[in-house]
Amino acid sequence: MKAIVIDSFGEVDLFQEKDLPIPKPGRGEVRVKLRATGFNPVDFKIRKGLFGGEFPLVLGVDFSGVVDAVGDLVRDFSVGDGVFGIAFGPCSNGSYAEYLCVAAQFIAKKPKALSFEEAAGVPVTYLTAFQSLVSKGALQKDRPIFLTGGSGGVGSAALGLAKVYETGPVFTMAGSEESASYITSRFSIPSNQILRYEGLS
Ligand SMILES: NC(=O)c1ccc[n+]([C@@H]2O[C@H](COP(=O)([O-])OP(=O)(O)OC[C@H]3O[C@@H](n4cnc5c(N)ncnc54)[C@H](OP(=O)(O)O)[C@@H]3O)[C@@H](O)[C@H]2O)c1
Repeated sequence: MKAIVIDSFGEVDLFQEKDLPIPKPGRGEVRVKLRATGFNPVDFKIRKGLFGGEFPLVLGVDFSGVVDAVGDLVRDFSVGDGVFGIAFGPCSNGSYAEYLCVAAQFIAKKPKALSFEEAAGVPVTYLTAFQSLVSKGALQKDRPIFLTGGSGGVGSAALGLAKVYETGPVFTMAGSEESASYITSRFSIPSNQILRYEGLS
């Protein structure tokens, strides 16, 4: 399969297209034929060597695609399922490739309402927001929340979750007119609930 790999840590000029063997799913794993990959900030941190890794290294954590093969003991997924997930765990190569294998617990079935491209932008940011707001932050119906950085990757996910959980009024921050307009148009948050942080200390 074709993959974008690095053979040392550094800048983006190290990316090379290479042919690698198509991975085989082990016990509890699925193989996904990738349709889209997300670009998450963790990718550049891995590229720069902050977390180590073995070469040739295929980057890419967020992905979507179609299940292409399943290993033993996989019950919840079948060949042909549209899925999205996180290329995590020791068995997984990254998602800048045509195929990846990943433990089944790191994927979910893709909702039909999401395109493959949209789904590949969801996993890490939404899980981060979910862990922060729901698992640890006790997001509650009708309870107001204040959230810095509502226009960012994690912030947008958090504002989406606030809608789903029907919190009370949401107050957030923006650094530019563009960010503020995005927050208002995408999440219906009125401008008097968006604090502009430029010049604040
Ligand atoms: N992305 C992930 O999946 C992920 C996962 C785990 C942890 N994190 C952490 O979560 C944080 C946000 O990451 P992100 O990927 O969502 O970043 P991002 O997309 O670059 O968004 C950054 C947000 O912070 C706001 N901001 C910047 N400077 C600010 C300031 N001085 N005061 C208030 N707000 C300010 C930005 O507002 P404007 O754009 O309006 O200026 C923007 O909304 C980072 O600390 C990151 O390390 C991210």
